[in-house]
Order: sequence, then C-alpha cells, then structure tokens
Amino acid sequence: SEQEAAAKAQQILSQLSTGEKIGQLSQLFYFGPKAPAELSPGMPIEDAVAKGDVGSLLFVTDPATINRLQHIAVEQSPHHIPLIFGFDVIHGFRTIFPVPLAMAASWDPAMVTRVQSIAAQEARSVGIDWAFAPMVDIARDPRWGRIVEGAGEDPYLGSAMAAAQVRGFQGDAIGESDHLLATAKHFAGYGAAEGGRDYEASYISDAQLWNIYLQPFHAAVKAGVGTLMSAYMDLNDVPASGNRWLLHDVLRDAWGFQGFVVSDADAVKSLAAHGFAKDEQDAAVRAVTAGVNMEMALGHDAYTKGLPEALKQGLVTERQVDEAVLPILEMKLRMGLFDHPYVDEARSERILADPEHRAAARLAAERSAVLLRNEGSLLPLKQSSLHRVAVIGPLADSKLDTLGSWSFQEKLPETVTVLEGLKNKLGPGADVLYEQGVQIRRKYPSMFDALFGVKPEPEWPASEAKQHLDNAVRAARESDIVVLVLGEAQNMSGERASRESLALPGEEEQLLEAVAAAGKPVVLVMLNGRPLDLRWASAHVPAILEAWYPGTQGGNAIADLLFGDAVPGGKLPITWPRDVGQVPQPYAHNTTQDPEDSGIRYWDEESTPLYPFGYGLSYTTFAFSNLKLDRSAVTPADTVNVSVDVTNTGAVAGDEVVQLYTHQRYGLASRPVRELKGFERVSLKPGETKTVHFALDRDQLAYWSAATHGWTFDPSIYDVWAGDDSRAALHAQFEVQK
Ligand code: IFM
Repeated sequence: SEQEAAAKAQQILSQLSTGEKIGQLSQLFYFGPKAPAELSPGMPIEDAVAKGDVGSLLFVTDPATINRLQHIAVEQSPHHIPLIFGFDVIHGFRTIFPVPLAMAASWDPAMVTRVQSIAAQEARSVGIDWAFAPMVDIARDPRWGRIVEGAGEDPYLGSAMAAAQVRGFQGDAIGESDHLLATAKHFAGYGAAEGGRDYEASYISDAQLWNIYLQPFHAAVKAGVGTLMSAYMDLNDVPASGNRWLLHDVLRDAWGFQGFVVSDADAVKSLAAHGFAKDEQDAAVRAVTAGVNMEMALGHDAYTKGLPEALKQGLVTERQVDEAVLPILEMKLRMGLFDHPYVDEARSERILADPEHRAAARLAAERSAVLLRNEGSLLPLKQSSLHRVAVIGPLADSKLDTLGSWSFQEKLPETVTVLEGLKNKLGPGADVLYEQGVQIRRKYPSMFDALFGVKPEPEWPASEAKQHLDNAVRAARESDIVVLVLGEAQNMSGERASRESLALPGEEEQLLEAVAAAGKPVVLVMLNGRPLDLRWASAHVPAILEAWYPGTQGGNAIADLLFGDAVPGGKLPITWPRDVGQVPQPYAHNTTQDPEDSGIRYWDEESTPLYPFGYGLSYTTFAFSNLKLDRSAVTPADTVNVSVDVTNTGAVAGDEVVQLYTHQRYGLASRPVRELKGFERVSLKPGETKTVHFALDRDQLAYWSAATHGWTFDPSIYDVWAGDDSRAALHAQFEVQK
C-alpha cells in the first residue's frame, strides 16, 4: 500500500549515504550497444551503477541488458536499490498505434486506455518500468512539430485523453502487473513555444495557464499519474525546470501531487544555458529546490556533480535532498521493483507477437481517421466496379512514414503500408499500379535519424524526377480510381521538427494537381502529424481521408475505411487552418468587437478555418434533436442535466461524436465564444436514435479569472449547444443566479 511504501522508503532513506541519495536523483541515457554507455571517456555507466550513483536509466530496451544492469544495481550497490528503467513508449512499443494526435481524433477515451495498456504490457515485458508519456501539452500552433504527440488544442478533450492514457499505462493502481508508471509531460507550457519553434520560450497569461495549459496536467494528477516531466523552456521568463511556483506551489500545494518529477533531457544543466542559473552547480540547486526530483541527463548530470559541494556550502540542505529522494524510493517500492527487480526474458517475445495487439492497432487506426471530404459519395469504393486502381505518392509504400515519430521498437517489415493494405483487400489477382511520383524532401535530418539508421534518400536527378511524375500521371490516366497518398515524412514532426510552412512538402502539390488533371476520381489519403494546407485539394479532390500516422496496421485500416468495411467516425482535435498565416486560430477564442459584424479578419484570405474543430464526416448522416435541460434557472451549487437525441438518418451503421459546447454570456472576464464541455462517441444502426446525457456543474463551468486571481463561477446566462462539431446549431440556455 501507499502507506507501507512511504514507511519503507523512509527506513531505506535513513540508511543511505549522501552520495547514494544523490545517486537516486540521477537518471542517465543508456543507448546500449548503439552508442557508448559512458559517463565520460573511460567511465562506464556500469561502474556508477555499482557505486549507487545512478537511480534510473533510460533508452535500454533489451531485456538481457536490462537484467544485467539491474543485477549490478541490486547485487553490487551498497543498499541494493533497484534501478527504474524508463523509455519513450509514446504510441506503442513493438505494436505501433496511431500517433497521439490521431488517437485524440478518435474521441474515444476507452479505446485509448486499451491501446496504452497494450503498449504498457509490451514494454513491461522487456523490463521497462516507466513510460515517458502521455504528452499532455496543449498545442495551438501546427508549426510546432510536437503537436503530433499531444491531443491537440482543447483542454477538455486533452484532459480526457490525459486521464485515459494514465489509466492505460498504470492500470487501476500503480504497481499493477503488466503496467507501467506514466509521465505527464512537459510541465508546463511547452506547446506554446513562440512561433511554433521547438524549445523556444513560452509566454502564457495566468488565465490561459490555468484555464487551458494546466488543465490536462491536473487531469493526469487526478487520474493518479506517478510522475511528471518538467519542460525544457522558459515559461514567462522562468525556466520550467527551475520554476518553484509550477513544481511546488501548483503541483504539490494546489493539486496534492505525491509522485516525483523528472526533468526533460539536460533541462537541469540548461538552466545555466538559459541565463537563469549561474553555473551547473547553481542549476542543480535551483532545480532541486524548485521541485525537480530526478535529473534526466545525457552524459554527466548536474546533480551528481554539483549537489555534494552545494550541501557542504549550505546552498541546499540534507532535508531538501531527502525530500527529493523519498518519492522516488516510494515509487520504486510501489512498482514492486524491490521484490521483483528482474524481467522474465523468455516471456517477452510471446507478448510482443500477440496478434490481438495488431488487431487493436487496426481498430485504433480505423477509429482515428477523419473523413474531411466526400463529394458525390465517392467513398466507400465498390470493389466490383473497379478494374484497375492506381496507388500513387511518396508515402503510399513507405513503412517508416506509416508509423510516425517515436517509433523505435517496431519490426518494420510487419508494418502495412497503404499500398500493401489495398493489395490485401483487393486480393492477389487485383490490378494495382503503384507509382511514387515525387520524393519528399527531408531538408534537415531528425535528431533520431543517425541513432536509428534513417538515411536521407538521395535526390533524383531532374530527368528521373520528371519521369517519375509522368509515370504517376500515366498510371492515373490508365486506372478507374486513384488513391493518392500524400503528407509528411515521419521525421517532419516530433521533437525538433517544427515547420515554418504548412504546405505539402517538396513537389507533392505539383503531383496532386497533375494527378487530378488526369481526370480520374481521386481519393486523397493524408499521412501527417499536423494540419497541412489543403486548400487546393479541398476544392478539387472529391474525397480526402486524414489518416495521420496510423501505425503498424495503418494500410489495412485505411483499406477497410476506403472500401466501407469500416466507417470513418473520427473528428478533428484541432482547428484546421487554411494557411499558416491563420495560426493560431483556436475555436475557443473570445468574442471580439466587430463594428460591422462582418466576421472579416484578413484582406487576403477567408477568416474561417478550412475545417473546424470537432469536424469529421461519415458514410452515413446524423440528425440531432430534443436538446433538453432539466432546469433553466439554478444556483451555483446545482447541476444542470442535459440530454440530446442523435439519430442515424442514413443507410449504414456508423459512429457519431456528440459534442456539447457552452458559452458564458457575461461575468468577471470575457469568456470564449464556445468551449467543449462534454462529448460521447456513439454507434448507431440506420434509423436508430440514442439519447446522450451530460451534466454541467460548477466544476465544468468555473474558470480562473484575472479579475480575482482565482477560480470563479459567475452568475450569468449560459448558452448550450449540442451537435457534430464546434459549429453545433442546436441551442438551449440556462441562468445561474446568485
Ligand atoms: O521523453 C523525452 C522528451 O519528451 C523529450 N526529450 C527527451 C525525453 C527522453 O527521450
């Protein structure tokens, strides 16, 4: 139990030397055979583990290596404290699921919980104890590459996805077998990096912090997350990893968090680089006293180097070090690492090969796809009426690009591309023409390319490039239908992968227009980690399916969707801008003064986004009716119960995401025009109606107001809308009286 772990941790702590205590605070990268696992030349990490100078390692994924290192810690270190092994289990381990932004597009928290519990089981089977996920950073600027790792722009959806993932990774309680410790990251505000440039400072008002950026972290804490990761960047000029207000006042005092905080990689040392700490020793003191328990470091860490001397000089007290160590020991105890430090090496291959995991990946990819356009009901395709299919595009048959970033342990040959998925669907005799058409230019390599052996593609000479384009157009002309697969290479989103443009990369736009001009119906399938500029496509291509990076089973899932064996039901978790100039454009913006009520915001482009938040089509249609509130006047202590009917008015079964939005008309601060306050994904047979229920109470409607510097729930009139996206029309209202 938690109490027993706390008592035992206290007892272990009382036996440790100061050096061993500091060792528990140190987490080092260990790349195993692929990179030298040395702290400095000639100083292997193994020696530090044996001395008790290391508490955790990250990036070891081989069970034999994990056991070897754990034996050193348990048998040779002075007090036999096991290591805790961490890894970036972001959207799967061996089985790669859709990227987190895609999973948010499923609006299906139960599915997300199941998927992350499979990821946990796979990772735990090799000896990993701790996932550096979920990433719960709200992101409103698609230029930022890490938007792919989160749940998009909305605090309500983001909170639901945060809690769902924590439950998936950790199970019902920390220490459950086949589960992992989760990490809510990157605390806090990383997603608001200026200009969408990764690592840059964030400037976020207090009101936005509380009402938007901190919400999913609070949800993760309420769901019992064991750890948080402190972010790299400056938050309002105070680096997040040295920010006592965040790490202590908010996290521990206001939210009662009992777990521990790990820094992002080298974020402690970088407190000096930020011009915040004087030097590395000062950085160590500032981080540990702010509330960073464990320092993640490449090479040496500042804690081991700086804290012993800082203690001697009285810059930090033994008690402060003890406070940092205790939750780490507690968590190791609660995870059962003292009782079961080793992994059963023989078990993992069976778990990693489980066909049910691949089936879950296929379902997750199907449920995550968003149908953006379907003119003339081109989709679903009818196999019987197609003689020849052209599959075109640089991402149509690229396994790596089907997976997305942070996919390290997949077996690439197992990954099903769109081309393969379509061939599987159509059978061995099918007439399928494949052409790549163009290359995707990966201008800068990603930070992981070298480590994981991704080589830049040599650029085609001009004459060859023309030939490829011509071949693609010919294939289109000679087929009945074209499935065109465009988007971004896998390493164009993720860490250090921001873009200054949302254009289709390389010559993809040229390929799109040339293939469309061939005159055959085109289905555009998008694989990408952020909204891209689809203005031309949305006006000229009849069908667009946003499949994100769909993972191991992506190709099969896309084939199911295109041929109607699955029906799209995903919805956008982010506003889809027309162009980069509209960014950021969250649907939950405030009402503005508009003298002529024109709605016009730009001279040179429409003011509305290309596709709104919450949007997505189906192969069937739905109607909403009977929006009912159980009362129209309440006191702040009451709950308003809301119900709405949704009917499948089309000919096939399908899913609709019923979305509930509210607006507070007046109060102590201006409030957004609409805010998501509830959702439910429901499956409906043709003609079927379901009633969906929501509850609106103080917790849902209160907000942090700059006027009072605190939480407030204003007497006001509240509008309520229910429908299928953020433009929902069905309206009701109620009044909160004093
Ligand atoms: O978990 C990640 C984090 O999201 C970004 N920096 C490196 C960490 C460990 O790989």
